[in-house]
Amino acid sequence: MNNPIGKPLNRIDGRLKVTGKALYAAEYPVQNMTHAVVIESKIARGSIRNIDTSAAEKLPGVLGVITYQNAPKLGQNNSNQSGGNPLIKPLPVLQDNKISFYGQHIGVVVAETLEQAEYAASLVKVTYLPETPAVSFEKNLKNAYKPERLLISLEPDSGRGDINQGLQAAAIQLDENYSAPIEHHNPMEPSATTAVWEGNKLKLYDASQHVQGTQQAVADTFGIPQENVQVVARFIGGGFGCKYPVREHVILAALAAQRVKRPVKLALSREQMFTSVGCRPYSSQRIRLGATKDGKLTAVAHEILTQTNMDREFVEHVGAATNMIYNAPNVLVTHRAVPLNMVVPTIMRAPGETPGMYALESAIDELAYKLNIDQIELRIINDPPQDPHKNLPWSSRSLVESLREGAKRFGWEKRNPKPGLMRDGRYLVGYGVAAATYPTNRQAASARARILPDGNLLVQIAATDIGTGTYTILAQVAAEVLQLPWSKVAVEIGDSELPPSPGSGGSWGAASYGSAVHDACMALKDKMVSLVREDNRSALKNLKPADLEVRDGGIFAKDKSVGETFAEIISRNKLKEVSVQVESTPDEARKKYSMHSFGAHFAEVKVDPINGMVKVSRFLGAFGAGKILNQKTARSQMIGGIVWGISQALHEKTILDDRYGHFVNHNLAEYHVPVNADIPDIEIVFIEENDPYINPLGVKGVGEIGIVGAGAAVANAIYHATGKRIRDLPITPDKLI
Ligand code: MOS
Repeated sequence: MNNPIGKPLNRIDGRLKVTGKALYAAEYPVQNMTHAVVIESKIARGSIRNIDTSAAEKLPGVLGVITYQNAPKLGQNNSNQSGGNPLIKPLPVLQDNKISFYGQHIGVVVAETLEQAEYAASLVKVTYLPETPAVSFEKNLKNAYKPERLLISLEPDSGRGDINQGLQAAAIQLDENYSAPIEHHNPMEPSATTAVWEGNKLKLYDASQHVQGTQQAVADTFGIPQENVQVVARFIGGGFGCKYPVREHVILAALAAQRVKRPVKLALSREQMFTSVGCRPYSSQRIRLGATKDGKLTAVAHEILTQTNMDREFVEHVGAATNMIYNAPNVLVTHRAVPLNMVVPTIMRAPGETPGMYALESAIDELAYKLNIDQIELRIINDPPQDPHKNLPWSSRSLVESLREGAKRFGWEKRNPKPGLMRDGRYLVGYGVAAATYPTNRQAASARARILPDGNLLVQIAATDIGTGTYTILAQVAAEVLQLPWSKVAVEIGDSELPPSPGSGGSWGAASYGSAVHDACMALKDKMVSLVREDNRSALKNLKPADLEVRDGGIFAKDKSVGETFAEIISRNKLKEVSVQVESTPDEARKKYSMHSFGAHFAEVKVDPINGMVKVSRFLGAFGAGKILNQKTARSQMIGGIVWGISQALHEKTILDDRYGHFVNHNLAEYHVPVNADIPDIEIVFIEENDPYINPLGVKGVGEIGIVGAGAAVANAIYHATGKRIRDLPITPDKLI
């Protein structure tokens, strides 16, 4: 296929997935397998007085029980390899008897069968020295503190100008509080690890978004060289952040396999996922806005209170977008964290922007009503010509285009600007809009490109595909650069032994992996060209590189049909293959430009005034996200993000029991995620962007931009339909009647 980039191609791994041949972490057919089950704390704070494992150990089939009483010392050596990156820190588990949250892993049982392990775990008797846990956010507000930094070195406090002056200068002011609940990732595939020790080498089949991060964290935890650990994650059933950092169960699986000297499979249950892999923390957000009568923002203050575990800090960067999205001269963003006895929160799809832009974009909507200015116009009035926080030009910014094009296709002009006046039979109808943004990230990554004797191409990189289509887009990039038929390209990813790359997260996969594969294939093309130009037996000898081109699985003279296939070149030169490995690093342009995706969400809701039921009846998202590598998988990602946004607005909330620190609705029966009946047809529009600065492919990444602001568009539509402003998510029927 010529020029596959951009085409809506089917996933190359699709057939493997639908036929059940794609292996996930708990499915590897390893000989001599045993099964592990974790033991979880039933208190939220205090210590363990004693763990009596005798009844469990006597059961048939039980091979071992590991607790703090008999666990080896961990995290002693090599603990500096992570370079301070909080996502790949060592994680020494079972080192003492201290409990800091309900559900904390305090032991692991290994048996011949899963059933034996589960029964044995139920017989382990734990006695505690409980302390009163700090669980209630409100009651512990007095302990809120300023963290030193947020994830990935963001400052907790930032801004510009003088917020008080900005508010005083305003003709119109707004001061409101918004809240977004604890949410859980709930990927289709619960986390699982299969651990196999061979001598002093550990192999993990793990549902990891970041195979080399897991490799490093596990090696550091066990105090062994990194090359003694291999992490394989060929297929992953969704991650959304909860599979990016290494978590306790991974270490427990490795510990258990070491103890029983056999392979161990440890698969978390859906319920265990709620306390084992983190969550999005609750956030309470005060927003103050000031504007002139004609809608120019004079002040934006976004003060954020959120939660963290009291022993291991994770503070979500909720205000990440507030500094850069609008052109206000005076801005203040602050983050404070309330330390609690809860699972250590973590990154979750568009961490920061998702709760933060819900609040900010709701406030902008409210301000537009106060000003009597159209919601879209207000955003356009405040569209900054350059990044007002970094004082750098945008590499590209399509917020205005997204708003205008989205409005046109959605039919925004049909909206009666006054709330509560549009009807469809007994239903109240409302339109809502909100802006989206997410940074265009890119990390250094290496890729290997190999032409094999049959002339086929194999591309290798330690990337992961968490369900987004990584396999497919990398094949598209490789096929495009080398102009190879689609059937001649294979991609191998998901193994820590492959060339180094970051994990799938931060929407940087396409930009980082894609750039590396692009550069490796370019280098491979050059290498093939030099091979023929230096070869007396080649008909292409002495032709200038500019007169040669790759096509049809070989190298040909541009003006005539003379040429040779890759297979012929390899065979004539008696080579095993032609291979190059290239490291591709972000260039200096990143310091000269501010790089972000932008978009606009449009929601139509129908609200039943009798029972408060909200139906999202239409949804449209328009995005400027650079070059789109695959129209089909990218569209699916945007739809997925928007489904999450609708869900954020209407459904999701994990309830923490203030007395015991227990997540009450820790299952999919009571933790509501949307079903098909909750989701309308979603229309996706990509605004064409040709951004020459971001990376060689011009891609921005679409993993996260789809969710950002989508919840606000629904909340704003509900206000427009009903005249009721609900500032605490989710907007359940009880809040509307
Ligand atoms: Mo995503 S929350 O960066 O895995």
